[in-house]
Amino acid sequence: MRILVAGGAGFIGATLCKQLLLRGHTVVCVDSLQTGSALAIDRLRKFGGFSFIRQDIVQILDIGAVGTLDQVYNLACPASPRHYQKDPIKTIETNVIGTRNLLDLALQNGARFLLASTSEIYGSPERKPQREDYWGNVNTTGPRACYDEGKRCAEALVTAYRSQHQADTRIARIFNTYGPGMQRDDGRVISNFVTCLLDEKKIEIYGDGNQTRSFCYVDDMVDGLIALMASDCATPVNLGSDHEVSIMELACIVGRVIGKSVVITHCPALIDDPRERRPDLEKCRRVLGWQAITPLELGLRKTAAFFAKTQQAHVV
Ligand SMILES: NC(=O)c1ccc[n+]([C@@H]2O[C@H](COP(=O)([O-])OP(=O)(O)OC[C@H]3O[C@@H](n4cnc5c(N)ncnc54)[C@H](O)[C@@H]3O)[C@@H](O)[C@H]2O)c1
Repeated sequence: MRILVAGGAGFIGATLCKQLLLRGHTVVCVDSLQTGSALAIDRLRKFGGFSFIRQDIVQILDIGAVGTLDQVYNLACPASPRHYQKDPIKTIETNVIGTRNLLDLALQNGARFLLASTSEIYGSPERKPQREDYWGNVNTTGPRACYDEGKRCAEALVTAYRSQHQADTRIARIFNTYGPGMQRDDGRVISNFVTCLLDEKKIEIYGDGNQTRSFCYVDDMVDGLIALMASDCATPVNLGSDHEVSIMELACIVGRVIGKSVVITHCPALIDDPRERRPDLEKCRRVLGWQAITPLELGLRKTAAFFAKTQQAHVV
């Protein structure tokens, strides 16, 4: 199949491109490199069947004569608050105008379209675990609104294209994902903790550290995205891990995995940072037969090895 991956130079997107190439597909990656990595593109170029188009999805898409597309994945959007809050208007445009441009492209090609949505559409949830039929609790004017509401609007747009234009669509609600390929300085909790410990620095915890998250290893997430794209399920599906840990516990686990003692400093809690986050995964297990299989400690060990290797590469 010929598959377009928007955001394919990013953390999850690059792993998705690699998996699709390994399965024998032709992959066209469209990415502005706003947060994506040119190095990831160089690595992907080593596979036959890969091409890269540097393009902002907010602009009218000009992807030339790549041939008829069978599938379009839309992962193009900065995922880390540090990145998406730098230019909140752009974040909203990427989610709304960019998603619309890609939906039009999918329609023109008769291709199936998958939106990478997010657990953030549940906001600071009042229900736990979060099931797909929960409508969420989102602050429309807080610092995270550009991302949360941008993704909520993208979901509404995908649903409207489905009902109005009979677009063939899928919606993945991705929960916290980690693994090799993350950027050191993206401000996300796992990259922060691992790189601080490798650099023998103190770990900074926002608030009391009792807030919880559940972390899914990137290879598992990519398998879930591919399974959802292949499925008949047109309604939103949570993808992630339901192994919930507090941020304090996570710090201890990372310390144990890396073999360093953990020194913690507490910083003020972040505005609108959700207290709890755990998906209800009954639907993805039932509909996709998919679940995350990588234990947290194993995934963290692989992530730490990746950061240690890239740290040495920077030094050399
Ligand atoms: N990583 C997570 O934990 C997580 C959780 C929930 C949802 N998601 C979603 O998954 C997707 C991928 O996340 P990620 O962690 O790989 O993020 P990332 O920031 O590493 O990658 C995003 C990619 O999109 C590209 N991009 C951003 N804006 C663009 C634009 N206007 N035009 C073209 N390319 C653009 C970036 O250059 C980058 O390569 C995002 O849509 C994100 O919202 C991720």
